[in-house]
Amino acid sequence: MSLPPDAGRCVDDVLRARRSVRAYLPRTLERNTVLEILAVAASAPSNSNTQPWRVHVLAGAPLKAFGEDLAMAFRCGDFAAPSHFPDPLPQALCAHRADFAVRYYGALGIDRDDTAARAAQTERNFSFFGAPVGLIFSIDARLGHHSWLDLGLYMQGVMIAAKSRGIDTCPQVSFAPFHARIARHLRMESNELTVCGMAMGFGDPAAPANGMAMPRQGVEAFVSDAGFDVSDLQADKTAASQLAVQAQAE
Ligand SMILES: Cc1cc2nc3c(=O)[nH]c(=O)nc-3n(C[C@H](O)[C@H](O)[C@H](O)COP(=O)(O)O)c2cc1C
Repeated sequence: MSLPPDAGRCVDDVLRARRSVRAYLPRTLERNTVLEILAVAASAPSNSNTQPWRVHVLAGAPLKAFGEDLAMAFRCGDFAAPSHFPDPLPQALCAHRADFAVRYYGALGIDRDDTAARAAQTERNFSFFGAPVGLIFSIDARLGHHSWLDLGLYMQGVMIAAKSRGIDTCPQVSFAPFHARIARHLRMESNELTVCGMAMGFGDPAAPANGMAMPRQGVEAFVSDAGFDVSDLQADKTAASQLAVQAQAE
């Protein structure tokens, strides 16, 4: 399938423009638009085309009831121990996580020792940060890492298809420890497992929570390669570093 000549630039722009948005305008989102986004994202590749993604869409009164129930469970400590990171986190990633916390709570004016304010912010996850649409992504619990990878590719497609339509998102693993309660709410099948949530709507550009641009490391920090001419490689690395700096500045 042929693409317009500026397609690469457009895709790059959308990839760089996507951010995790944690405050939304009180503006509804059409069901058809949501379904269109979920449909186009399904062009994601998957191992042997197994397409292991499942999505539950919430809006209106059901979203409100769902959010209130999970917030109450959060306050009561009625959830499983979070398992999305190992303890301890590999050393190389600790600095990134610490930097995230400084930027995130700093943007919100929350002191790192203010556990009540931090918990209140975490609780906002469960109302999907006020977004008009909440998505819960699930998978058959019998599947392994590579099928979870397929689901992650699908989720990125959802976020990019949304952003290309001017719609913001925030992926939310915070839902995972609430699987038992979520499964009851959404009448999940017995083998279904909650992997992640996602807020979707129109971000509030004036909200402090949306004022952050999380930095990325340049490719030289995470790419090993072989077979290129060494001088080409040096030039490429310089160009890639410049791109990373430019992306952070945007
Ligand atoms: C799988 C996954 C789970 C995430 N879970 C949460 C979450 O529960 N709550 C939240 O506020 N942000 C969550 N995030 C957003 C990350 O904090 C964010 O992607 C990261 O800091 C980079 O910022 P950016 O998305 O704005 O570029 C999650 C992101 C991913 C990919």
